[in-house]
Amino acid sequence: MPDTEMEYTKLGDTGLEVSRFCLGCMNFGSDREWMIGDEEDSRKIIDRAIELGINFLDTANVYSQGESEEIVGRAIEDYDREELVIATKVYGPMGDGPNKQGLSRKHVLDQIEASLDRLGTDYVDLYQIPRWDETTPIEETLHALDHLVETGKVRYLGASTMAAWQFTKALSESDLNDYARFECMQPQYNLVDRQEEENVLPVCEDQGVGVIPWSPLGGGFLTGKYDRDDARERFTDENWVVLDAVEAIADETDATPAQVSLAWLLHNDVVDAPIIGPRSVDHLEENVAALDVSLSEAEMERLEAPKQPTWSRAIADL
Ligand SMILES: NC(=O)c1ccc[n+]([C@@H]2O[C@H](COP(=O)([O-])OP(=O)(O)OC[C@H]3O[C@@H](n4cnc5c(N)ncnc54)[C@H](OP(=O)(O)O)[C@@H]3O)[C@@H](O)[C@H]2O)c1
Repeated sequence: MPDTEMEYTKLGDTGLEVSRFCLGCMNFGSDREWMIGDEEDSRKIIDRAIELGINFLDTANVYSQGESEEIVGRAIEDYDREELVIATKVYGPMGDGPNKQGLSRKHVLDQIEASLDRLGTDYVDLYQIPRWDETTPIEETLHALDHLVETGKVRYLGASTMAAWQFTKALSESDLNDYARFECMQPQYNLVDRQEEENVLPVCEDQGVGVIPWSPLGGGFLTGKYDRDDARERFTDENWVVLDAVEAIADETDATPAQVSLAWLLHNDVVDAPIIGPRSVDHLEENVAALDVSLSEAEMERLEAPKQPTWSRAIADL
């Protein structure tokens, strides 16, 4: 079977072209038992992703305490840097000291240097704050991030997982101070986690902010590979009903449940590029082929019908 043809889109209102899938790099490293551990295996996924046309990679300084960035850095040496869109993040703890985390000017300026070093590059395309820092004024963080854009170390700014009021405040502070603003939001968003429809997604739509959902398969739940007897957080009665709809449509469309779930995101106008987190080349190929799955409006409605999204403050504390 020939490879799926990759599609590209502008990230939000920017001129930046990104592939319709972003490669999540959280699995590359050895911090946790479920991670890939082996660099060669991670490298195979990165190489195949780029071969399939993915030009967009998402990592973070905290993923295996820098190991993920290092693996990505070594992998991209072989490719045309100008064609790649490398995203990373600052916020989580990079050590025990009180200044080794958060969004202070000091930590942001320290960590961009550390990330550039590990990634072996002169600039990061998308620098993201994955959470709101309650202990640092947002003006301080925005000023530091603006400085990074001004000095060419960062091309675009992004944010993730926060309350709509916080994101709106950050956008308006940037506008008031003439700082570079967040061009991209990374929310947890998939068929069983749709609370962001009642939180940050309307802000993104209104403000022309790009959307790159994390956990697009609900951490694997939406692949349909789990047993109903297992007890896990996502295994609620309501979520199993969603999965029933996913599996029925997968049968009817000759696709897999993972592909139907990803296709639902791709068909959603607010979404630019779901961040897939494959643990193998097989996962990657299956997920990318979701671009070939076409869903009708009636099918989209069937997938959405079992859930009525509501926002809970607890999501921002994930
Ligand atoms: N901003 C944030 O706060 C935040 C948080 C989390 C993640 N992220 C980003 O989002 C990326 C993706 O998140 P995620 O890993 O939770 O995404 P996901 O796609 O929802 O879940 C990935 C997991 O699903 C399973 N899987 C994926 N494709 C599969 C397939 N075709 N068949 C069967 N199983 C499959 C694998 O787990 P098993 O093989 O173990 O079953 C894989 O580790 C991360 O790499 C990271 O870049 C950001």
